[in-house]
Amino acid sequence: MGRLEGKKVFVVGTSKGLGYAIAYFSSIEGAEVIINSRNEKKLKEICENIRNCKYFVGDVSTPQKAEEVINKAGDFTDLVITVGGYVEDKIDDLKGLDEMLTNHIKVPLYVVKSSLSRLRKGSTIVLISAIRGIYTPLPFQLSYSIAKAGIAKAVETLASELIDQGIRVVGIAPSVIDGEFVPGRDWKKMRKLGDFKAPPEDFAKVVVWLLTDEAEWINGVVIPVDGGARLRT
Ligand SMILES: NC(=O)c1ccc[n+]([C@@H]2O[C@H](COP(=O)([O-])OP(=O)(O)OC[C@H]3O[C@@H](n4cnc5c(N)ncnc54)[C@H](OP(=O)(O)O)[C@@H]3O)[C@@H](O)[C@H]2O)c1
Repeated sequence: MGRLEGKKVFVVGTSKGLGYAIAYFSSIEGAEVIINSRNEKKLKEICENIRNCKYFVGDVSTPQKAEEVINKAGDFTDLVITVGGYVEDKIDDLKGLDEMLTNHIKVPLYVVKSSLSRLRKGSTIVLISAIRGIYTPLPFQLSYSIAKAGIAKAVETLASELIDQGIRVVGIAPSVIDGEFVPGRDWKKMRKLGDFKAPPEDFAKVVVWLLTDEAEWINGVVIPVDGGARLRT
């Protein structure tokens, strides 16, 4: 019996990388899976490789649009938000400020807000920060790293707010997610401990574990998932 039997996991912002891998391994563990992003062709291709998968096309970049996507998705027990986007900037141009704050802070908060009526005791919300948001930053990632720091704080604050409803809020902080997800391959051959880059499988496995009962006493924390690479910088 899979560790997510009886669960229905909604992965918002599913890409060919992390989101796909999370959806795939959740299904392997027995969950029904719902995925969302804005590209129907990509969603359809991903769903074809996953048992018990449904998809809904939709943009979640405003409160109204997020509400529409959540309404289309119907009921689900657990929520993972992997919406991405990456812009490099420094203080002299700040060209990524609006987009990074929208994608990495506003969007997850809109989606969580719209999902709350569906989540209940035993539900888990997983948000994605980044190593550069919680450890040593790089000088050309100002807007990205402060947005990822913000969403890490949101994990703690939301966990505190939702604790009496029995809903856990947890996060991971990936290093660098290398390339697309390919089901069934031997991904462990593709990296060694301490590498900054690792395939999507290494990050998705931790998210799926966070959704299981094995992790039910983990709440309000962001786990660095980097093979220890942060210790090298
Ligand atoms: N890649 C890395 O090295 C890395 C490192 C640390 C942390 N992370 C974080 O890990 C998560 C997943 O990373 P990733 O590289 O797989 O992400 P990604 O490909 O950049 O983004 C994931 C998906 O989000 C969807 N998306 C973006 N805006 C959306 C919107 N308004 N509404 C609906 N869907 C939207 C995009 O799909 P469509 O364009 O098809 O809609 C995209 O495929 C992200 O939060 C990222 O910041 C990534």
